[in-house]
Amino acid sequence: MKHFDFDTLAVHAGRDDFRELGVHAPPLDLSTTYPIPDLAEGTADIDAMLRGERPSANNVYARLANPTVDRFEKAFAELECADDAVSFGSGMAAVSAALLAATLCGKRHVIAVRPLYGGTDHLLASGLLGLDVTFTAAGTVSDHVRADTALVVIETPANPTIALVDIADVVRQAGEVPVLVDSTFATPILQQPLLHGAAMSLHSATKFIGGHGDVMAGVIACTDEWARHLRLVRILTGGVLHPMAAYLLHRGLQTLPIRVRAAQASAMVLAQELLQHPSVSRVFFPGLAGGDPHQLLGRQMRGPGTMIAFEMADGFDAAASVMRNVTLMTPAVSLGSADTLIQHPAGLTHRVVDQAGLDEGGVTAGMLRVSVGLEDVTALWKDLEAAIEISARVELVSR
Ligand SMILES: Cc1ncc(COP(=O)(O)O)c(C=O)c1O
Repeated sequence: MKHFDFDTLAVHAGRDDFRELGVHAPPLDLSTTYPIPDLAEGTADIDAMLRGERPSANNVYARLANPTVDRFEKAFAELECADDAVSFGSGMAAVSAALLAATLCGKRHVIAVRPLYGGTDHLLASGLLGLDVTFTAAGTVSDHVRADTALVVIETPANPTIALVDIADVVRQAGEVPVLVDSTFATPILQQPLLHGAAMSLHSATKFIGGHGDVMAGVIACTDEWARHLRLVRILTGGVLHPMAAYLLHRGLQTLPIRVRAAQASAMVLAQELLQHPSVSRVFFPGLAGGDPHQLLGRQMRGPGTMIAFEMADGFDAAASVMRNVTLMTPAVSLGSADTLIQHPAGLTHRVVDQAGLDEGGVTAGMLRVSVGLEDVTALWKDLEAAIEISARVELVSR
């Protein structure tokens, strides 16, 4: 894989004009409306924004354009090696905007590879957007491509099984059909889907990009053409990112490479420890032997990432007991925070997926998912091991 100086780019992207502005932190513009002294100019900017372009003189109104949001998007696009990026008020707002943008052409069929984040799966299965959705496995995408297929949706690493999907292979199978990659688990530090032929790289920026569990956001890196479609959808549906959130995300970018590398190093240690524990029946982590069947590490991913899933040998009750008994890890959904989060996908994040969908995606009742944070790895393992031991004792007593 091409070497990329993320550390420098992450610190400086979107900050080129700071000396000229005489600032050291990005200006935060909270305006909801903007003065338009020249009506002709204002009208021309509205026309440009309705074509999905950025305005040249007047932002006009905050649902149409905002300089703080714009600055974050440009910085994020650089990290993704993309022409542009468009941000939204949440990851799900980004997912719905991508589906709407892809179907602007009138095509209504979407192919989706399971597993996907529960909310995305639910949106696709719900029929809310009037789409005809085919769920399939990554290897059989080409069997389902039709004349009216608007989009192929994949997630890699996938939520919650951390399965890696070969983006270039799905792109090849999709042919002319654009491929949307949810790259939330990877972040641009570990993977840049556009370099493998994807049309859009989507992130729940609520996770690693914000990095501290205090921002809701979504962002899609893409070509100029997709950015125009997405901006138009955003103007029409109003799922905008708040400038304060954009400010925090832009700040989060500066430490993203360091946070991802530190959490990844701990994830490797925790995955090895879990693998050796007799109460754990399976560990899902791309860095373990057999964890990367398509050899994507080094080709598509720069490392195995920071997310681990594992299965308790004694099933649901043991998994629930581990979640109840961790004291350092936070028993909570979401991921990408500074603290380590542990959650039960079938009962929480994927609760909205029906049993067939869970089976198809390989989500089991004994499975737990860990988002490894920045604590000392010895302390993390001590906490997890103690919680696993308690669950084993409870299981023995109840036998
Ligand atoms: C992989 C993935 N995509 C999308 C989303 C949705 O993002 P948000 O919660 O920011 O709407 C999530 C949320 O957990 C996720 O894990």
